Amino acid sequence: MHLYDVVLFLHILTLLAAIGLGSTLHHAEWATRTATTVGELRTTTAVYRRGNLFPIVIILLFAEGAWLLHLSKEQDETFHWDDGWVWTAIAALVILMISGGAVLGPNATRYLKLLAATPDGPITSEVRAATFRPFIRATSHMNTALAVAVAFNMITKPSGTAPPIVVLVVGMLLGTLVGLAGARARSAAMA
Ligand code: HEM
Repeated sequence: MHLYDVVLFLHILTLLAAIGLGSTLHHAEWATRTATTVGELRTTTAVYRRGNLFPIVIILLFAEGAWLLHLSKEQDETFHWDDGWVWTAIAALVILMISGGAVLGPNATRYLKLLAATPDGPITSEVRAATFRPFIRATSHMNTALAVAVAFNMITKPSGTAPPIVVLVVGMLLGTLVGLAGARARSAAMA
């Protein structure tokens, strides 16, 4: 067993943790459709604050990836920083960090504050609108699909520049569509 294998395991373990965290948050997002009171929404979405763990995951993924590149250079020069599937992963992490830090994090804080300030009882129109904001749903699902698309690139290692970018763009588009579908589903649930 080589150090490289252990670091690769840690890299994949971090990805599993990220997917677990993302799935928990998405489950809460979709479960809001069946909530009938503000109190239920508070319970369902309390987990939103755990989104604050994502920066740690992003930093770990980058650090482990950089370590793998370093080890691969020491061994046989297999992988390089300018490989398309590597630098596009770094760009993806920047997108995840910015959209999480500038959009999703502040939105979750505002939303949980709104729920805390709203008396228990039927869901008000203001709370309903804040629960199903299409832009937020699109962004959160786009982020998850982007991470999955990076995993696809990491495993398949497409050569050149265009193929890994196309994979990421397709992933982001699919994630956005799923998120928008989740935001639209509210009218059926609240009818
Ligand atoms: C969202 C971010 C990331 C995800 C989801 C991800 C996912 C993965 C996965 C699933 C593998 C296993 C591939 C395999 O063994 O076939 C892997 C390996 C690897 N990753 Fe990442 N990774 C991410 C970010 C990064 C970054 C930013 C770097 C570079 C700085 C990086 C560098 C590497 C390297 C060098 C390997 C080893 C490839 C091999 O030995 O086959 N990763 N990654």
